[in-house]
Amino acid sequence: MTAPFSAAYRLDGANVSLVVEIIAEVPAVRYWGPRLPDDLDPAELSALAARAEANASPAYEAPLALTPQAGQGFPGRPGLTAHRGGLDWASFALLVDVEQAADRLVFTSRDDAHGLELVHDLQLSGDVLAATTRLTNIGAEALQVDHLAAPVIPLPGFVGQIIGFEGRWSGEFQLRRQDLGMGTWLHENRRGRTSHDAFPGLLATERDANETRGLAFGFHLGWSGNHRLSVETLADGRRSVAMEALFMPGEISLAPGESLTTPAIFATVSDAGLGAVSRHYHAFLRARPEHQRLRAKPRPVHYNSWEAVYFDHDPQVLMALAEKAAAVGVERFVLDDGWFGSRRSDRAGLGDWQVSPDVYPQGLGPLIDKVRALGMEFGLWVEPEMVNPDSDLFRAHPEWVLGTPPAPQIPFRHQLVLDFGRPEVRERMYRDVAALLEEYPISYLKWDMNRDLSQPGGADGRAGATAHVLGLYEVLDRLRASYPAVEIESCASGGGRADFGVLARTDRVWTSDSNDALDRLSIQRGFSHFFPAELMGAHVGPTRCHITGRVLSMPLRVATALFGHMGIEADLRALDAEETADLAAGVALHKAHRDLIHTGALHRIDAAEGVNAFAVVAEDGSEALVSYTMLTEQRGYFAEPLRLAGLNPAAEYDLKAVWPPRLKAEWPLKQGGRFRGTALMQAGFQPPRLHPGTAVILHLRR
Ligand code: GLA
Repeated sequence: MTAPFSAAYRLDGANVSLVVEIIAEVPAVRYWGPRLPDDLDPAELSALAARAEANASPAYEAPLALTPQAGQGFPGRPGLTAHRGGLDWASFALLVDVEQAADRLVFTSRDDAHGLELVHDLQLSGDVLAATTRLTNIGAEALQVDHLAAPVIPLPGFVGQIIGFEGRWSGEFQLRRQDLGMGTWLHENRRGRTSHDAFPGLLATERDANETRGLAFGFHLGWSGNHRLSVETLADGRRSVAMEALFMPGEISLAPGESLTTPAIFATVSDAGLGAVSRHYHAFLRARPEHQRLRAKPRPVHYNSWEAVYFDHDPQVLMALAEKAAAVGVERFVLDDGWFGSRRSDRAGLGDWQVSPDVYPQGLGPLIDKVRALGMEFGLWVEPEMVNPDSDLFRAHPEWVLGTPPAPQIPFRHQLVLDFGRPEVRERMYRDVAALLEEYPISYLKWDMNRDLSQPGGADGRAGATAHVLGLYEVLDRLRASYPAVEIESCASGGGRADFGVLARTDRVWTSDSNDALDRLSIQRGFSHFFPAELMGAHVGPTRCHITGRVLSMPLRVATALFGHMGIEADLRALDAEETADLAAGVALHKAHRDLIHTGALHRIDAAEGVNAFAVVAEDGSEALVSYTMLTEQRGYFAEPLRLAGLNPAAEYDLKAVWPPRLKAEWPLKQGGRFRGTALMQAGFQPPRLHPGTAVILHLRR
């Protein structure tokens, strides 16, 4: 061991501990798990883990370091692949410096022979570890980087199941549980945006862990572009999680002195099941400085014009919708796609961010005045990264788009991607959006992004997918710095850009284009593994869902949207009197409880098949809101009792059904009652007999 270093370094959160050991002169995670006792000597952990030489194996195991290195003979995938024209590939960086603070460890390792330096920065905030790897070229020639993983985190061998996320447009955040064997579980994303089908997160558990029991780990990469997530199991039993931005060939070359920092991996762990993992993430996001702006005022209930009028904008109609929206309790009116340039359909106009004089001869002023006179804020949809070939912008600057000539551009919603790696493109889009914010009192931008970066080549012939994401971040940061009061939503055909990277510069996510309440329940449940409710855009859609064609009742649509950042996205002129009254009652119910919904602890409940249930419990246990939805008919006459979670066991709660407005089912608990937390959690309650597609919401107050 090099003289000045300790054998191990440790960070502790309230519920987690990290021990990084220096093995063969490199930092490696020895323990990442539930909190260890203060007086536990890390040497005990290494003694317990010690192994003899295996048959037909290296005499000692090359360390599974924060960056496993080819030069150290690591038998699995290294954390770094870099070279100089085929040389300097066998990285062998050894520890030269350690900085330790109460919540942070920074390890610097250097490899003078191959001209590279690695800095691993591990920061614990609450119970979430945010960790990055920085690679610096300390050689004399350019260093080609093929991949660089954020710090690699081992999983214990008994954590043999992972839950990955998959999905599609309108069906995001679907979980898939798999058993791990030897080899690699790999999820790659090459769509250029975070994607609908490969959300950059995964959960890992011991067998049979569930929402409330068992050891569970969470991992997320805070990055809005191409990524690679892998879980590798070696024949020697070692298992690890690696996450990184995925680079295209030649994309990253570091000049001498230049550095590259990975996006952060966000990791957490609990022995109290998947629910606790989510609550760690929620608490972490809620504690961020940038989250405090959301806390400063209640999340305003939205009205969004998209599914009401699509591209058919008529200021008179929109004003009429604004009146109806205000009447049901809406607080922010968001004008969606169709207000600018020649944008009368998705075939033209993207790129021309001037209000269309044909549709709005007097500009947006009269509509905005009306909206504000009705007591609502005004929000506007934009999609600045895109251009329709049929637009003034494209005619003036056809060279500004990403592409890989001579291959033809692959069609995707009639639009192409502007190369945000180019400073002049960023400048133009910043100025176009800023001009709108200067001219009008806009409090909210829905920043959309509706196609993949299928052929992300820049004009210089180089791949530019990574530069595009960094350019996007720069523009968002700049807008945020200039217009700090403007909130920004991250949308990409629904939930195609939901990650902690974009959330560092935006205020909520449009979770999915699907407003089908039943589909939404599973989308929102998946989303909730990483993100809290106040970041989750959730709208009450039209009576017949435009995407699934399903007709679901207004009480169910309300019951689903109510548990997020609530909004409405339907033609309010088409609702009958009962639907309108129920909607208004639903908005009022949301407002009455949104403080709880947007600050409380989420407890998803492992309910019977065909039932979706969860509770949001106030941090001090003083109240809770319970959602119970019947998805399908039950086998027997009655559904299983539902055991609640997260309540104060000793407290007595007044239980009251607060939704739907007319519960038809006979139900002894309809009139409510007073019950002990223990009884509600250990015995549970008998739910009413509900038709499929029906939800009840209960409120509990101590
Ligand atoms: C995307 C968004 C929708 C809507 C349309 C407008 O699909 O996800 O909410 O804004 O674009 O074109």
